[in-house]
Amino acid sequence: MNAQKVILDCDPGIDDSLAVMLALSCKEIEVIGITVVCGNVPVEKGAANVCRVLSWMDRTDIPVYKGAEKPLVRPYVNAEDTHGSDGLGETYFPPANGCTVKSDAVSYLKSVLSSGDDVSVIALGPLTNLAQLLLCDESAFCSIKELISMGGSYKSHGNCSPVAEYNYWCDPDAAACVYNAFSENPKLKHKLIHMVGLDVTRKIVLTPNILEYMKTINPDLGKKIEAVTRFYFDFHQKQEGIIGCVLNDPLAVAYFVDRSLCRGFVTHTEIETEGISYGQSLCDAFKIWNRPCNSLVLTEVDEKKFMLLFLSGVLGADLDEASRILDSIMVRRERA
Ligand code: RIB
Ligand code: CA
Repeated sequence: MNAQKVILDCDPGIDDSLAVMLALSCKEIEVIGITVVCGNVPVEKGAANVCRVLSWMDRTDIPVYKGAEKPLVRPYVNAEDTHGSDGLGETYFPPANGCTVKSDAVSYLKSVLSSGDDVSVIALGPLTNLAQLLLCDESAFCSIKELISMGGSYKSHGNCSPVAEYNYWCDPDAAACVYNAFSENPKLKHKLIHMVGLDVTRKIVLTPNILEYMKTINPDLGKKIEAVTRFYFDFHQKQEGIIGCVLNDPLAVAYFVDRSLCRGFVTHTEIETEGISYGQSLCDAFKIWNRPCNSLVLTEVDEKKFMLLFLSGVLGADLDEASRILDSIMVRRERA
């Protein structure tokens, strides 16, 4: 099967960076470009971090575009408490050479999506760039072949408020704009947003044992992953009460490659933009509102299958060996 053309829209960000590594390692994906949005860190820092990852993966040929510097309406709030002031766990790796960051992600998205090619978007940050595209060129936006969005939560608790996940909390107006388009725009009648929310991503935990295994398979990348996740481990121990870190964004990429990784349900989802619960994704599982379905909300994931895909794709692990080792070290997680 030919590789599927994909634009990664991201806010690197530690887990975004691991997701970029995974996307570049999967033969099923052709990353034709990367757009950066303000989120975990300001867009300038995020773009510089994308360049760092591209240089680690020897893929500085991939174009990088800077996007939104602030949310559509709300003041911008970063997540440097989670990702470090540099966005890569305060590793302060030197800037990458050979990677040119271009401006205007929305113009890039507009030109590529209007070309007639089948291009999907895997969104790993706030949806500001995509909302701006929708507002300026609805036809280009509706040409997105598939939209996978790491964001939101159905039943799992939030990570920015009791009910809101960061990507949709950082820019709830952008998320609402995108989700509303998928339920109201006739050109999107047969398309859904694949919502890779905290219900499934919280079950994907990089533990110290798996990290140690990574370093034996591929010392160079394993040590880089260890370096950037150290800060993230500390954050998770304090906030999530776990020893390890949640790989939110890499699951969105893995799910794009292998849909059997996750299961969920088709429904109507709305994003709250006001009041105490702003950023919450309300998934109408019992069709109370009887509104048009706009989303496939993922609720179950095969954690081991994900980890095998990541270990073999990014680090080059032998699948049989990795399967035996994961069986000995992975804890099957109950509902998040
Ligand atoms: O809530 C987790 C999401 O917000 C991840 O995409 C993380 O990188 C941040 O963008
Ligand atoms: Ca992200």
